[in-house]
Amino acid sequence: MSDNGLSAARDKMERAGVAPEAIEVFTHYYRSLEDGATGLIPEETIEPLTDIPSIEDVEVDEDQAREALARTVLIKLNGGLGTSMGMDRAKSLLPVRDGRSFLDLLVEQVRAARSTYGVSLPLVFMNSFRTRHDTLEALAAHPDIAVDGLPLDFLQNREPKLRADDLTPVTWEADPELEWCPPGHGDIYTALVASGVLDALIERGYRYAMTSNSDNLGAAPSARIAGWFAASGAPYAPEMCRRTPADVKGGHLAVRKADGRIILRDTAQTPEDQMHYFTDQFRHPYFHTNNLWFDLVVLRRTLAERRGILGLPLIRNLKTVDPADRGSTPVIQMETAMGAAVEAFEGATAIEVPRSRFLPVKTTNDLLLVRSDVYEVGEDGLLTMVGDEACTVDLDRRYYATVKDFEERFAQGVPSIRDASTLTVRGDWSFGADVVATGDAVVGPDGAPGRVPDGARI
Ligand code: UTP
Repeated sequence: MSDNGLSAARDKMERAGVAPEAIEVFTHYYRSLEDGATGLIPEETIEPLTDIPSIEDVEVDEDQAREALARTVLIKLNGGLGTSMGMDRAKSLLPVRDGRSFLDLLVEQVRAARSTYGVSLPLVFMNSFRTRHDTLEALAAHPDIAVDGLPLDFLQNREPKLRADDLTPVTWEADPELEWCPPGHGDIYTALVASGVLDALIERGYRYAMTSNSDNLGAAPSARIAGWFAASGAPYAPEMCRRTPADVKGGHLAVRKADGRIILRDTAQTPEDQMHYFTDQFRHPYFHTNNLWFDLVVLRRTLAERRGILGLPLIRNLKTVDPADRGSTPVIQMETAMGAAVEAFEGATAIEVPRSRFLPVKTTNDLLLVRSDVYEVGEDGLLTMVGDEACTVDLDRRYYATVKDFEERFAQGVPSIRDASTLTVRGDWSFGADVVATGDAVVGPDGAPGRVPDGARI
């Protein structure tokens, strides 16, 4: 049955013009799916990785740092749709500050680094078929950003969603677009090659890539990290942050006992009865930020040696063909994670970075925080926290989970939370202008639904 499934999926990809490299990678993962790969990494098979250098302590020569940045390209992962905030377009286009989006701020960060260091620093987006059009349209407002005849983006591949019952490609006549999905951000390596962008970068003398999620405004270009990475001679290095008790999510690195390679382990790869090890901040003291550095030349060589297949752990994502309709056909989306590639490179290392380099927006709680006066935005597009600790925001998921619901209720702007330790909202409230929260601020649930008046103090 599934042999038919594989050939049907390959035919479908060929007919749709998917790159041959991506079809081979898909085939590899399809076979692991058939073999029942679980991807689980038991604690007994790994050693914790507890001592990695910190960027704050290492010595970096300033000239070398500039030189390394001059050979660096910034790649932003922009293929996701922000589905966890109910979005169906690129999250990077969402306004964050004074009408400026993640993308606009990122462009400012790149301009600032270019002028400070006198480097070309290309900015290249990895888009999916769903995010490309809007993103390129938004970039048209920044005509200075393209450099060196390089494209502003490359398109990640797409693959058929597979019926969960027999692993054949699903058909969905109501909306055939929904028959396809992106293969996760681990596709970056295949897409860089298949799009020709990897060759184009190397030809123009670029050697290093720094990649990160497009919603992470903390992941600004860094000459210091570029300099450290170049001097390390390592082929690959993720940026890691020291965990606090609150950081129970986010993958960690470990050393695989079988071959001494550094690997990334995520929640989904940890046996359920071993989650206490995973969340133990002393045993596994750093979490993976998804900001990472790799050597373009080594990547090209490694992919060539392995006929395009890095062989990353497979993530088997069980969804429905129409994500908005839970009753629609159950499907499997095969994905891989970009950071899992750490195990594919001999000599890979890691670097500890300050928390300020990790500022993701995964939920509307995070969105409120980055829009608020807890952060100030500099001319270099960088967000700096005012004070030592950010307020903990907890909005009622029933009324604020999606961007649409959030925007409706904060149409006059978000409250001032600079002097609040926590802001908890229960029930359905819309907020007036210039609301100020202090201490442990709570709104509702009594009186909801309601409106917090202009200028209110909570
Ligand atoms: P995540 O899937 O971890 O986070 O992707 P997210 O953006 O919050 O996605 P939702 O809300 O679950 O939909 C991390 C980064 O990788 C990109 C995303 O755009 C994001 O910047 N990404 C993800 C891709 O570029 N391609 C993919 O196939 C998946």
